[in-house]
Order: sequence, then C-alpha cells, then structure tokens
Amino acid sequence: MRFRMHAFAPTMHVLDSIEALRAARRALVGTVAFVPTMGYLHEGHLSLMRAGLQRCDHLIVSIYVNPTQFGPNEDLSRYPRDPQGDRLRCEREGCALLFMPSNAEMYPTGHATHVSVSGLTEGLCATSRPGHFEGVATIVTKLFNIVQPDVALFGEKDYQQLAVIRRLVRDLDLTTEIVGCPIVREDDGLAMSSRNRFLQPEDRLPARSLHAALSLAADAWAGGERDAGQLVELARTHIERHDGARVDYIECVHPENLRAHERGRLIATDEGAIMALAVFVGSTRLIDNMRLDGPTHDRPADRAQP
Ligand code: PAF
Repeated sequence: MRFRMHAFAPTMHVLDSIEALRAARRALVGTVAFVPTMGYLHEGHLSLMRAGLQRCDHLIVSIYVNPTQFGPNEDLSRYPRDPQGDRLRCEREGCALLFMPSNAEMYPTGHATHVSVSGLTEGLCATSRPGHFEGVATIVTKLFNIVQPDVALFGEKDYQQLAVIRRLVRDLDLTTEIVGCPIVREDDGLAMSSRNRFLQPEDRLPARSLHAALSLAADAWAGGERDAGQLVELARTHIERHDGARVDYIECVHPENLRAHERGRLIATDEGAIMALAVFVGSTRLIDNMRLDGPTHDRPADRAQP
C-alpha cells in the first residue's frame, strides 16, 4: 500500500510593514493570488480566498479598514473588526501572507496622491458616497504595487467597485488579472456583508426584500419586460412595502459602462442589464445587484410576503 505524504500547511506570516510584506512576497516561488479586504471576514471573503488558491500557488490577504473611502458621516469608527478571528480564518484557508498595515504605514504624513476613475464613478453608489471610489481606487492601486499579485479577486456584490478596479487596471497598464466572484448569500437571500452584523432581528425581513426585489425584476425580464422604468418600479414597490426599508437608489444599468438604461425605452436584449440597488435598513446601508439577463437566479424565501 502506498501512502501519500501531506505537506504541512506552511505557517502564515502576519506582516504590518510594506517593506516586510515586499520581502516576504519576493521569497514566494510561483504565482500569487491576492484578496484585499477590510476584515470582519465572512463566507464571501473566504470564497474569494478559495477561488484564489484554485488559480495560484500562494494566497496573500490584506486586512485594512481604509479611511479614505469613508465619508465624514459614514461608519468608519464603528466598522466591525475581529483581528484575532480573521487571522484564524485566513490561516485555515491556507493564506501565506496576511498584511495588516496601520494608517501611518499606508498614508504617511504628506501623502497627496489620489487615483480617480471618471465616468464609472458617477451615479449608483457614488451619488450618496462622494469620494468613496477615489478612496477605493487609491488604496487598491497602492496595495497592488505593494503585493504585486498575479491575480486579485473581488466580490460581485460591490459591482461598481469591481468595474472601477477593472478600468483602473486597464488604464494604468497594471498586470494583475482581476477576477470577479459570485455573490455569496445567506439562506434567505441576503447578500453576505460585514455590515449585516448591525442588522437587528426586526431588520431581517426588510433586509431580505432586496434580493426578493431583484429576483422579481429578473423574473419580469425573463417574462419579456424590457422597460427599465417598469423594472425599477417593480423592485422599488416591493422594497417599499417593508417597514424599515428606505431606498437610496435602484437603477437598471448597462453591465460594463454602468450607464443607466433610459426609462421608457425598451432595452435591447444584447445590451445586457444589471439591476443595482442600495437600501437603508434601519441605519445600515445594504447594497445588492443582479444580472437580469444572466442565468436563472435562485428564488428567495419571502417572495409572497409584504
Ligand atoms: O471591498 C472592500 O472590502 C474594500 O473596498 C477594498 C477593496 C478592500 C478596498 O479597501
């Protein structure tokens, strides 16, 4: 009988300086997948890590709550954190290097350069979060320069963010391949997010109306509805039937350029359509999206409920 020797999982190194991360990254032989995060890791993040290790030899994860992507009235100070739990989660997933820099390391005094992607950063989340995508584009560019990944993975829940990152990689001639991964959902359809921990028990029904509303719009698309205005109103009506849900925006947009499909004009089937929305449930702002012309979506549990 032949035994297969299992190599011990290599120890994960936790690093907080750019210099140390660079040195450790240079010592890795083979390809590197990178998952940038703000921590408080959930199954969605873990799915990115697993997808990374399917593609590459090594995995690097960063945990950094980037202050420049939060507006003055946003939840930076109460953003959830669990550094010890996150370390264990990364280690269990086979992460080689975990980068956890401080603000002083990432934005030393005098830091004055920002990366701005125009066009894609107008509308959708940018309307109520001015400056957010500049903060994201800046930190992601810095992290890519530090980590030098072959592949970087991002969740499709942050659809606009993914589009912005794809564009900046293209425009700045970066060599990292960007991989978008499907939204991971709770059993009731709620998209996984670190912010879900702020939801109170009474928020659950309004929170799950987001996915239900998107599914209604996708059903309507499948049934032949092509007017963006009708599709948006269908979703809005469903969400607004739930006490505690306040719509920030609902838009039906082109999947690549994110331009809103004009209401009252029929969308050509080959144009493609994605419905994206942001909804306040209590004080928590949730986002979600669904490709209307994509593969059959899963059916949420609360479709029949008000
Ligand atoms: O999606 C996130 O968690 C953040 O926006 C990112 C990409 C890690 C940049 O801070």
